[in-house]
Amino acid sequence: MTDFSSITPVPGQASLEELLVNLSVELAPGRREGLSLANPVMTASGTFGYGTEYSHLFDIEKLGAIVCKGTTLEPREGNPQPRLAETPGGLLNSIGLQNIGVDALIKEKAPIWASWHVPVIVNIAGETVDDYARLAERLDGIDGISGLEVNISCPNIKAGGAEFGVNADSAAEVTAAVKKATSLPVLVKLTPNTGDIARVALAVAEAGADAISLINTLRGMAIDITRRRPLLGNIYGGLSGPAIKPVALHMVYEVAGAVDLPVVGCGGITTASDAIEFIMAGASAIQVGTAGFTNPRAPLDVLEGIEQFMTREGIKDIGELIGVARG
Ligand SMILES: Cc1cc2nc3c(=O)[nH]c(=O)nc-3n(C[C@H](O)[C@H](O)[C@H](O)COP(=O)(O)O)c2cc1C
Repeated sequence: MTDFSSITPVPGQASLEELLVNLSVELAPGRREGLSLANPVMTASGTFGYGTEYSHLFDIEKLGAIVCKGTTLEPREGNPQPRLAETPGGLLNSIGLQNIGVDALIKEKAPIWASWHVPVIVNIAGETVDDYARLAERLDGIDGISGLEVNISCPNIKAGGAEFGVNADSAAEVTAAVKKATSLPVLVKLTPNTGDIARVALAVAEAGADAISLINTLRGMAIDITRRRPLLGNIYGGLSGPAIKPVALHMVYEVAGAVDLPVVGCGGITTASDAIEFIMAGASAIQVGTAGFTNPRAPLDVLEGIEQFMTREGIKDIGELIGVARG
């Protein structure tokens, strides 16, 4: 703790001590070593690469955590082009998990992350429960990796291609398999494309998740009326950006009320006030995704805005804001 006693405050202005706010949050309180973040602002998977691409743009180590691109056992080329389409207030993507694969990630990215102060969480994706378990096992104990985020919005090949996360049983099965295979803290990332997200969240919590993040993209599509064909090469894609924020906020509110685990809110967060809404709804941390495509510095702007809000409102600890709108 810094000693401020020698600093003379300017009359009429807040002292440095008064301006200092505690932004730290704990995402795995049930574990001995925990997953402690200096602040609640994270990047959303697939929108911030491996972090390395952004390190020349701003001090990325100021963030609470970085979540890297979805990682699979083998490298993937992704879906056919076009893979992005803008919509009013949103973005449709059908990237299809293009990534370098887990071996290259361990060899090329983890050593860089190991030299950073900011925790890096690896987002994992699979086609079978066994894929997830093997990924978790491979990543266990690797220097530079502080946790796993399990993307259960992927098609379950053995169950006809429905997303693992639409069903409480398959969501729990993946969670339990990952937990068994790793000693790392595990966040499970829920899909909004399910009828009862609170039920899925409860199943995932019971299966041992340390925290829950939500939401992934909402399923959507667009049609090119001149070509008379779907705009995306993959026909459908995932909708993200400001357009999904009210849906995401509602789901975060619902899930935070259903489970006794830290919740990480995501979906359309562009400004600090968006982030504060999610925190007030019950999120312990938030992720910034699509906003970074128009303003690469968006995660840091959000963090600075949260800090300014707290200072302005005389809030000393972010914990005072978490869930405050729940009454
Ligand atoms: C281009 C793109 C790629 C994404 N890739 C992944 C991914 O690999 N794994 C994952 O769990 N979510 C992925 N997402 C979903 C985001 O992490 C996030 O959940 C979603 O976009 C909603 O947040 P936002 O509106 O702030 O972008 C991707 C989103 C976009 C736009």
